[in-house]
Amino acid sequence: MHVLLTAGPTYEPIDPVRFIGNHSTGKMGYALAAEFAQQGWQVTLVSGPTAQTITHPLVTVVPVQTAQQMYEAAAAVAPAADVWVFAAAVADYRPRTVAAEKIKKRDDGTDETLTIELVKNVDIAATLGQTKRAEQFSVGFALETQDELPNAQRKLQRKGFDLVVLNSLRDAGAGFRHDTNKITLVEASGVTTFELKPKADVARDIVSAILARLQPHVA
Ligand code: CTP
Ligand code: CA
Repeated sequence: MHVLLTAGPTYEPIDPVRFIGNHSTGKMGYALAAEFAQQGWQVTLVSGPTAQTITHPLVTVVPVQTAQQMYEAAAAVAPAADVWVFAAAVADYRPRTVAAEKIKKRDDGTDETLTIELVKNVDIAATLGQTKRAEQFSVGFALETQDELPNAQRKLQRKGFDLVVLNSLRDAGAGFRHDTNKITLVEASGVTTFELKPKADVARDIVSAILARLQPHVA
């Protein structure tokens, strides 16, 4: 069995020295990769820039920077993967143009504000979702700060996910920059809530939930 995982942030360049990014550490995605490998799965981990490392004979890491690169790397693997897990915090927008040279202040009184026009990035999960075969299983993440459940349910439908892992930033110890996480699994048939746990234990919960749902799926 083969799982495609996306993890980490994406970096969208502004000029040669600056980018738009986010606080994703990649910890959750790498913990999932380790857990799948532990279970004997072949893992392709398409990873944005992170400090995480993983060395395992079953894990292939494909390092990328931008959302477009992450999409291309994921699309190359998706048809052959049994399960897709989109744990990356993909930048929704990128600068329309990337300046060839470092953007300089002018110091002439007209540089008090700077506007960078952004254009929408490809939605990796939603785009691949349109190619998903009946026997494939797709898992998304949703990080919300309000209207958590309705937002997660919308994402479930819109992106063709079979399961959404919901993180609320209102839960203490959950989300970015923590070694713990508190998740709710959202699927068409209902909602399952878990306690606050170390991310490795959360990864185990997520992988066993996926495996449990795969049995009827592949049968
Ligand atoms: N995702 C993706 N490609 C994008 C944006 C998001 O693959 N360009 C995936 C994420 O990896 C995650 C899921 O879609 O599994 C939901 O991401 P999220 O940012 O919560 O949803 P968005 O659809 O971008 O909505 P918003 O940020 O407006 O809440
Ligand atoms: Ca988003």
